[in-house]
Amino acid sequence: MSSRLPDVWLDELRGRVDIVDVVSDYVELKQKGRRFWGRCPFHGEKTPSFSVDSEAQMYYCFGCHKGGTVINFVMDIERMEFMDAVRMLAERAHMELPERVGDGRDSDKMRALRERIYEANLEAARFYHATIWTAEGAKALSYLHKRGLDDAGIRRFGLGSTAQGWDALTRHLTGKGFTFEELKQAGLASEKDGRRYDMFRDRAMFPIINPQGKVLGFGGRIMGDGNPKYLNTSDTPVFNKRQGLYALNMARKERGLKRLILVEGYMDVVSLRQQGVPGVVATLGTALTEEQARLFKRYAPEVWVCYDGDGAGQKAILRALDIFESQDMPARVIDIPGGMDPDEYVREKGADGFEALKPMPPCEYRMLRAADAVDLTTQDGRTQYAIACCNILRKVKNPVELENYLDKLIVQTGFAREVLMRQIGVEALAAEQRHPAQTDRPLRRETHKELPEHVKAQQMLVNLMAAGRLERALPMDAAFVTEPYKTIARLLSEGQTPAAIVEQLDENVRDEAAQAMLSDSNIEADKTALAVSQCMNKIRLYQTEKRIEETKARMKEESSPEKRAELIGLLSQLMNELGAAKKSLKE
Ligand code: UTP
Ligand code: MN
Repeated sequence: MSSRLPDVWLDELRGRVDIVDVVSDYVELKQKGRRFWGRCPFHGEKTPSFSVDSEAQMYYCFGCHKGGTVINFVMDIERMEFMDAVRMLAERAHMELPERVGDGRDSDKMRALRERIYEANLEAARFYHATIWTAEGAKALSYLHKRGLDDAGIRRFGLGSTAQGWDALTRHLTGKGFTFEELKQAGLASEKDGRRYDMFRDRAMFPIINPQGKVLGFGGRIMGDGNPKYLNTSDTPVFNKRQGLYALNMARKERGLKRLILVEGYMDVVSLRQQGVPGVVATLGTALTEEQARLFKRYAPEVWVCYDGDGAGQKAILRALDIFESQDMPARVIDIPGGMDPDEYVREKGADGFEALKPMPPCEYRMLRAADAVDLTTQDGRTQYAIACCNILRKVKNPVELENYLDKLIVQTGFAREVLMRQIGVEALAAEQRHPAQTDRPLRRETHKELPEHVKAQQMLVNLMAAGRLERALPMDAAFVTEPYKTIARLLSEGQTPAAIVEQLDENVRDEAAQAMLSDSNIEADKTALAVSQCMNKIRLYQTEKRIEETKARMKEESSPEKRAELIGLLSQLMNELGAAKKSLKE
């Protein structure tokens, strides 16, 4: 993640920008000891549970369990990528970025060009928006009015109109000091047979603005019929259609959203938002990409896909569900009745009507579409449908949920439960649920409250280690047996700071790691040794239980009598160890 920047440089950066200082720009903090407390900016709360540790240079919220370093804080609050957060903080600390860092394309010349393109785009957006209130923009204004937008909405989204003629914008911008080359690079103008002309002519203009407020490009709607319906800025040094989303600049300011809504078109976003539905975004004239799917995580815990109700829209929903699933982003579907656009629907039914639509889990939606593809009045059709649904249901991990779908499928197809279960292969699943496999998978945020004993023990050891409270070094292999604690402990023992470590960890374990190193262990100084040995016992207990499970599993597979005898010997030895570990824990 951060590995392209030298650690020493990052240490210096974190040292120079005081985290308390940075956080204070967003949160009112009160000092208590080395900790500062305030109301968490990431979740709504009345009593402060958000803490900043000035010594460790980290933050952690005891309410929503978000935590990390000053860089992570800026990434979260500004919804920035790592490198952009670093750039912003470096500027604040008056530090030069190390040479040749980042994406490589950012040479000085390129950076200067990008700046110029942003400026040209901003000036163009102002020009289009100003034009819409003039006689030349009257056509666009009345077009947008006809589509249900009022003047306030037009201002809010900065919508605009091209001016008359072939090169009105080009002349305007060159008059402001932009070179023609810069306009070409920005995708605003072009040239043919020595004649220069504006890229967008006779269109209503939708500026595309990123979360930091920079204008990246435009979508231009033809007024009436014609091709293309929407003309989008081609890819430029600042604009990549596969990466951004429309209206992210608005989503940025919306805290505590329970879901984002993904729609297909610019008009859908504008229309839903104008009617009062928050958290709506769209892709930029292309199908959803994995990069975009990952972006959603920063804004809300779920996304509701709400595409047009036509055949193309339905196919696109299925693809989007696959993409969100591949990126671990929880998704649901809002299926608009009557084949309408979200835009048409919300104009007819209002925000309340729209919000009343119930989002469907992916499985339910996939089953619905599978039913469309066959003729359920024939046995053949029902068989095909049952097979398709079993493939879909294989992914449902929650037995109760599965049960509901099964009931439906039994009624629809007439197959017996047992047959369907076999087709799904749930028997294997059920067995697994009776004896869950022990894994080293990092814990997810939701399971936070019931951490197993051995995890709590490792957290405490890491905590004591980070606080420099251990008199003797720990036997690393015995003390740290699951991730991320193995890694954290190793890095701590190599002398890295907690802040540096947190930044290197995977995003899904970062909060947990920050918590482990930051929270007060509440252990008095003279009880440290005892606490350490208690932790070690718990971890030993866990390790022994795990080895017993493994040995039992191996015995099931093993056919050679000598090997089996060996395993039985091992097993009884492990059982003894387990007894001993349990006994010493009680003492
Ligand atoms: P649609 O064709 O569904 O248009 O395209 P729409 O959003 O309903 O537009 P209106 O309501 O007729 O104005 C959905 C999205 O696909 C992209 C645009 O981003 C559009 O918003 N698109 C469509 C293009 O980029 N170019 C096109 O020619 C058509
Ligand atoms: Mn539409």
